[in-house]
Amino acid sequence: MSYSALFEPIEIGNVKIKNRIAMAPMNPGLTGPNGYHWDANTAWYAMRARGGFGLILTECCVMNPHRWQGSEVLNPSLFTDYRYYRFHSEMVKLVHRYNGCKIFMQLSPGWGRQGHPHVESPDCPAGGPSAIPLEIDMRNLTKGWEKQMKRINPMMPDLELIKGMNDEEYRAFSQAGREVMARENPELCHVFYGDTPRELTVAEIVDLEDRFALRAFDAFNLEYDGVEVHAPHGYLIHSFLSPRSNQRHDEYGGSLENRARFLLNIVEKTRKKIGPDKAFGVRLSGDELMPGGIGNEEIKQVVSWCRDAGANFFDVSQGSYENPGAAFAPDGENEFTRWAPGFKEASGGLPVITPNFVTPAVAEHAVTSGQTDMISLGRQAIADPFWPAKVKEGRVDDIVKCVRCQECYMNLIISHWLECTMNPTAGREKLYPELWLDTPSLEKKVNLFKQKASKLPQI
Ligand SMILES: Cc1cc2nc3c(=O)[nH]c(=O)nc-3n(C[C@H](O)[C@H](O)[C@H](O)COP(=O)(O)O)c2cc1C
Repeated sequence: MSYSALFEPIEIGNVKIKNRIAMAPMNPGLTGPNGYHWDANTAWYAMRARGGFGLILTECCVMNPHRWQGSEVLNPSLFTDYRYYRFHSEMVKLVHRYNGCKIFMQLSPGWGRQGHPHVESPDCPAGGPSAIPLEIDMRNLTKGWEKQMKRINPMMPDLELIKGMNDEEYRAFSQAGREVMARENPELCHVFYGDTPRELTVAEIVDLEDRFALRAFDAFNLEYDGVEVHAPHGYLIHSFLSPRSNQRHDEYGGSLENRARFLLNIVEKTRKKIGPDKAFGVRLSGDELMPGGIGNEEIKQVVSWCRDAGANFFDVSQGSYENPGAAFAPDGENEFTRWAPGFKEASGGLPVITPNFVTPAVAEHAVTSGQTDMISLGRQAIADPFWPAKVKEGRVDDIVKCVRCQECYMNLIISHWLECTMNPTAGREKLYPELWLDTPSLEKKVNLFKQKASKLPQI
């Protein structure tokens, strides 16, 4: 099998991408203790660029500088302070050296009710559209999560038992778990049970819209090739879109038009700031997959409005934190492709990127069938950073397959360094430069420099 469709070039805005294989946005939990990018992030992305990806979508970078942005427990990956811009600039330069690999920054205005208090101001609640906390129902978990849940709590009953509980039994079980976690592991309790957010004022919302446009502009100045608005998975923008979390009575709540206002203002203000041609798109959950949440029909309307406001590509996902198993990290593959044709149609044919693949033949079919323009690899890119290069060389049997154990996710949740059951170098890329620091153009310059340096007088 040739997989030639995966290696066709494609254009997004004014950016030419060498193939149809993107790395999905993933927060690897590698930022420094203060939440900003450093060498570990650079090496993480460089190895995937070396592995042949045509496009890297970065982890979600948060541009909200306020304490209430609420992402302190999980790796916050901040993009709020120009003193750390040099790490981005260095990373982008290095990624570009791998046969023109392109890189888009995923940018977020905050975590909303899925956030957690800042470590230095534990009483400062996260901001959201309305004061409604999230509710994770463990009966929604998939098999991959079971082992991880037992890792943090060996006393946890089997998933089968939890899934069999009726509402009353589950409430009692969940409440007991919450009390234990609040006592023994309060940081984690914020993640699993959520806090009641503070309702943001209109002035705060407008301030975020304006700041977003400025930070997107900064990303282009740092030579990122594109910017993607992070609007899926129940985070701040999604929580405005969803009637489950947005019950405002002003111009940001109620009708779909009002719930979408925050996102659409962000898209419109950003497009105005960056100019007409740059690659600038939106990631959305194709369906929230929760009762009373935003469904696919409304999402398609939002896609169409985003196009009108200036977005020129879309990235597909599904679900929210409230449905973490079946929704945004399924055990299998090719589950998200069902939303892609709807995104394509609603956007009038703009390029669409879809994740959740493992097998090259399945990915190739998603492209040849016209369902999606690009595929992206999330957890599979952690398990094997060299997936695209191996597919191109026909070495499909050499691919190290992701086993969906969710260790990468769980490490993020419990504030551990990223690890992967299948790939011992994952998260430790900076210790293995021999696997990625071999860009021919850089090597040529370094060799020339070495030659000249060898003629210097000895001291
Ligand atoms: C460790 C980890 C971190 C993630 N972080 C982000 C993120 O920052 N932004 C985002 O939009 N999606 C994030 N995701 C979701 C992925 O982009 C992707 O949609 C999901 O993993 C399903 O695709 P896959 O089956 O190819 O892994 C993350 C996934 C993982 C495993």
